Amino acid sequence: MKAVKVRLCDAQLVKKKLIETNALDTSHMPDRDSEHIYFPLAEGSEDSVVLGLESVEIVEREMPEKRVNISLNDRLAGFLNTEELALVGRSQEVVGDIMIIEVDERLIGKEKEIASAFLESNKQVNVVVKKSAIHSGQFRTRGVEVLAGEDRKDTTHLESGVRLYLHLEKSYFSARLGSERLRIAKLVKKGERVLVMFSGSAPYPLVLAKHTQASKIVGIELNPDAHAFAVKNREKNKVSSDRVELINGDVQVEVPRLIAHGEEKEGGFTKFDRVLMPLPKTSEEFLGDALPVVRPGGMIHLYAFLNEKEIDDEGKRIVNLCEEMGFTLKLDKVVKCGQHAPYTFRVCYDLIVS
Ligand SMILES: C[S@@+](CC[C@H](N)C(=O)[O-])C[C@H]1O[C@@H](n2cnc3c(N)ncnc32)[C@H](O)[C@@H]1O
Repeated sequence: MKAVKVRLCDAQLVKKKLIETNALDTSHMPDRDSEHIYFPLAEGSEDSVVLGLESVEIVEREMPEKRVNISLNDRLAGFLNTEELALVGRSQEVVGDIMIIEVDERLIGKEKEIASAFLESNKQVNVVVKKSAIHSGQFRTRGVEVLAGEDRKDTTHLESGVRLYLHLEKSYFSARLGSERLRIAKLVKKGERVLVMFSGSAPYPLVLAKHTQASKIVGIELNPDAHAFAVKNREKNKVSSDRVELINGDVQVEVPRLIAHGEEKEGGFTKFDRVLMPLPKTSEEFLGDALPVVRPGGMIHLYAFLNEKEIDDEGKRIVNLCEEMGFTLKLDKVVKCGQHAPYTFRVCYDLIVS
């Protein structure tokens, strides 16, 4: 389309003139480069613009379309019938400026149009992806496919004042756990030493660093990509490596190393006040590593995915399992911190070690 190219210093004057002469195309946005601003021109108004203005050039240029305020429902109703509309989920996860949608298989042929409708209806969203593979494997990573917007899968997510750089396929992250991380932060007392097993790209360590007076937080993560993001995030949030120590390795190797290192260098390993175990599928397999490093009176937060009916029995089973390993635990609280699937919840057991 035609656009008016003008030096930045003349932009206000030219804009005023364009508005006065009805020459500004309001369905497109102005655009800029380092020295100029480009105003979209209404069709057939080239002549009226040039008159009386110096240092103005009319150029041919692609101009960004303006996002108009049409509701998501109205956009979707433009190409979906009532039955199809009912299949579109409305509560989507947004990580940074990326929206993650789930597309019902009956709508696959229209998924790009659906994604564009979400993109146009959400100003803070620049990319819409669909889940293409569920979280799996040891690293709990997933697949996503870009359907609309910019062609990228990385973003910076802001959570509780912490900036987290993430790649949706290279490391695990759930924006839906933000309130759970803050709940844990509220329990942490001044001077605590906290171990975050399975720390991923460091959302728990960094939220705890920002919102608590913990003296030391140690994160252990196996996935090298997630660990690299964690280190970058620690730096971005200006947190020192003395306060938040991040280790790339297997919890079952690194926890014994922490003990050995403490004994060698500091004349005795100092136990942790709190251990977080956010690996819901297999956390309990690591209880044998967590229990010996929590001080008496300290706490373990163990996550699991469970059907509602199993929650109470599972709590008792975990306490018994610890008993068999020679540790006495009291179940302080069970917190549902999100729905994982129909009737299945992400549950956190807050356990006090005697
Ligand atoms: C469910 S994710 C949680 C990540 C992070 N805490 C969060 O909330 O975003 C579990 C993480 O545990 C890591 N992991 C799995 N097995 C591990 C092990 N044996 N040692 C250390 N990390 C492990 C995975 O790579 C994954 O990043």
